[in-house]
Amino acid sequence: MCSSLETGMSKAWQALVLLALPACALAAQPVHYAYGTTPTAAQVKGWDVDVFPDGEGLPPGQGTVAQGEPLYEARCSACHGLFGEGVAKFPNLNNSSLDDLKATPPVKTIGNYWPYAPKIFDYIRRAMPFPMPGSLTDEETYAITAYLLNLNNLVGSDFVADAQTLAKVQMPNRNGLIVNDLKPDTHAKRCMKGCAAGSALEVKTNAKDLKGLTPPTTGPADGK
Ligand code: HEC
Repeated sequence: MCSSLETGMSKAWQALVLLALPACALAAQPVHYAYGTTPTAAQVKGWDVDVFPDGEGLPPGQGTVAQGEPLYEARCSACHGLFGEGVAKFPNLNNSSLDDLKATPPVKTIGNYWPYAPKIFDYIRRAMPFPMPGSLTDEETYAITAYLLNLNNLVGSDFVADAQTLAKVQMPNRNGLIVNDLKPDTHAKRCMKGCAAGSALEVKTNAKDLKGLTPPTTGPADGK
């Protein structure tokens, strides 16, 4: 807008426009709100940790099954069990049978349900161990991922996890998931007239009824 005004103008107008130019130039600058600072490259790197299913974003480094075993036992087994079997209601990490997906309720674990191994690394790095996420180094995370894949019989005991090898692990459920972006996400038929009053509706299940899930952190549904 600012510079297009200059075309086809007399000298006098051009002089005036030139006077106005610094204001135009200023308007194009980002607004400064007088708080915050520009993040450093190191700070951005600290947040930029997402890993994609094809392994894009995996950091340098590597870890072996043997290195992962003691790390897993020290940092993870209290909740996930010595062999990944899961303590109390903490998730089972050792189950790679596709048949278990058909059980009632289905047993979904990283081994039989998760379609891409790089996402296991991603999840552990950003979320585990539960009380101290972010406390593992990349190398430790690679080693624990290698150990868990071995525990699930998906790789041999000589497996070395790194940015290349993790992307190549063929997870059993790789082709078992479908992309479904249909909305709404319920098969119930939408009510258009004579529908139940909202006040008559109540939530009948709560997290306690869904066995195998994380213990509920909130009270019973509908306060009952
Ligand atoms: C204090 C208990 C605790 C510890 C210690 C712990 N976890 Fe977890 N873990 C959890 C809970 C709770 C969840 C479920 C979190 C959720 O669903 O939001 C979970 C979920 C997971 C999952 C996803 C399971 C799934 O099928 O969705 C993985 C993988 C995992 N943990 C790995 C680890 C690893 C590796 C360590 C050690 C570095 C670790 N956890 C330490 C409690 C723990």
